[in-house]
Amino acid sequence: IEVVSVTSELYPLVKTGGLADVAGALPGALASEGVRMRTLVPGYPAVTAALETAEIVLDMPDYFGGTARLLSGEAKGLSLFVLDAPHLFLRPGSPYLGTDGRDWPDNARRFAALSYAAYELARGAVAGYRPAIVHGHDWQAGLVPAYIAYNAPTGVKTVHTVHNIAFQGQFGWDIFHDLRMDFRAASDGAIEYFGGIGYLKSALQNADAITTVSPTYAREIMTPEYGMGLEGLLRSRSGDLHGIINGIDIDAWNPATDPALRQVYDATAIEGRAANAAALRERFRLDHTPGPLFAVVSRLTWQKGMDMLLEAVDGLVMQGATLCVLGSGDPVLEAGFADAALRYPGRVGFVRGYDEQLSHLIQGGADVMLVPSRFEPCGLTQLYGLRYGCVPLVARVGGLADTVIDANLAAVEAGVATGIVFSPATAEALSDAITRTIGLHRDQKIWQKIQRRGMVSDVSWATSARHYADLYRRLLGLEAHEHT
Ligand code: ADP
Ligand code: GLC
Repeated sequence: IEVVSVTSELYPLVKTGGLADVAGALPGALASEGVRMRTLVPGYPAVTAALETAEIVLDMPDYFGGTARLLSGEAKGLSLFVLDAPHLFLRPGSPYLGTDGRDWPDNARRFAALSYAAYELARGAVAGYRPAIVHGHDWQAGLVPAYIAYNAPTGVKTVHTVHNIAFQGQFGWDIFHDLRMDFRAASDGAIEYFGGIGYLKSALQNADAITTVSPTYAREIMTPEYGMGLEGLLRSRSGDLHGIINGIDIDAWNPATDPALRQVYDATAIEGRAANAAALRERFRLDHTPGPLFAVVSRLTWQKGMDMLLEAVDGLVMQGATLCVLGSGDPVLEAGFADAALRYPGRVGFVRGYDEQLSHLIQGGADVMLVPSRFEPCGLTQLYGLRYGCVPLVARVGGLADTVIDANLAAVEAGVATGIVFSPATAEALSDAITRTIGLHRDQKIWQKIQRRGMVSDVSWATSARHYADLYRRLLGLEAHEHT
């Protein structure tokens, strides 16, 4: 099965969050399922620079306000289509924001252009290439299903994955003339959303199948509490909505071989983590205390519950634990952690920024991975935590609820516990969970049992890749593979 995946970020070329990890891992994970996935990405500077081979497969002289070309090429083992449109993508800064931290003012046009390129592939504009499925991710690829449904019949099926329903891509009607969208899409209400145009909403309405990145989040987004206005539409499409949990790349994230670690280790030799903990304490200038070393690797945002953590910091320190935080985001939260580090030298350390290497060292050395999110479609850092014996402490929401088993008495005795799960997502419940964690950590026998159980649990892509492949096959009317 030939599939083109359409994404605005892709590890290891360009990454702001988990979407990049997932988009980067899917092609490899699906290869063994008989799916050949190529990835369509914008030609950001980091992408075009990484291309090892490139061939122009489509010239688009008048394309969304400039001259563009579609390239076909390889980079870092990934098979790519690159939308080379310098007027849209050849810019410094992040994929979404300028160096002033604000959304690029022409994001509506930039990502319509990306989605339209997928439509070009679907309709066979590139000689010798024809996908059976176009699989888009998040609002940036949101117009793909409407282009395919309305602009001209292609026979291609569409799948759309929601990685985060909080980002919806809403714009005014004034952009319509720019979109190259058949007017029937407008008159049918296929792109309309609250009086404007909604990219994600349009995908949810027009895609043949919708997926999101965990079963619990799939249920949550059909409710007003988590659906952010799209719950009604999602409920009407519940038969086409599937929750498929993310996996992680277990080669890139392997404590037995990870070059970012001072000391590699595995489940039979967790004591190796001590050397990494020492490296972390140096890096974050933390004292050695008997309490656990808690860690955060995250975007610093309200979604991630970082304001709740700031409220819980005093208690954490008072109980003899330490905290290291790696992240950036909301300036108020950044200032909050900088202040906590000032107030508690040796107990709280803060590195502002984005550092892939350091994030590995943290997983390999810290005792607890804190993920107190208010909502979390899947979450990857708790999965890395499981694999590295960095015990996840998570809120019971979304993919966090699906991937971590709380260390309550029964679960500890049965030997199935893999972390600490708290609810509701409030500062008080988080503080209680931190206290409970410190208690569990005191009994090193129990603690190591929890660590080991997490380390041997399956966080790979194997099962989920099969679910995606089965979904593609069903859409194409092919037999699903027999599974045992
Ligand atoms: P989200 O996509 O909502 O940000 P995920 O948990 O799915 O959350 O994915 C976050 C990804 O980004 C993980 O790979 C995590 O390790 C990484 N990450 C987040 N913040 C940082 C940071 N400051 N430095 C390095 N990696 C980070
Ligand atoms: C989003 C979500 C996160 C998820 C990631 C990859 O960024 O916030 O929970 O893990 O996408 O699917």
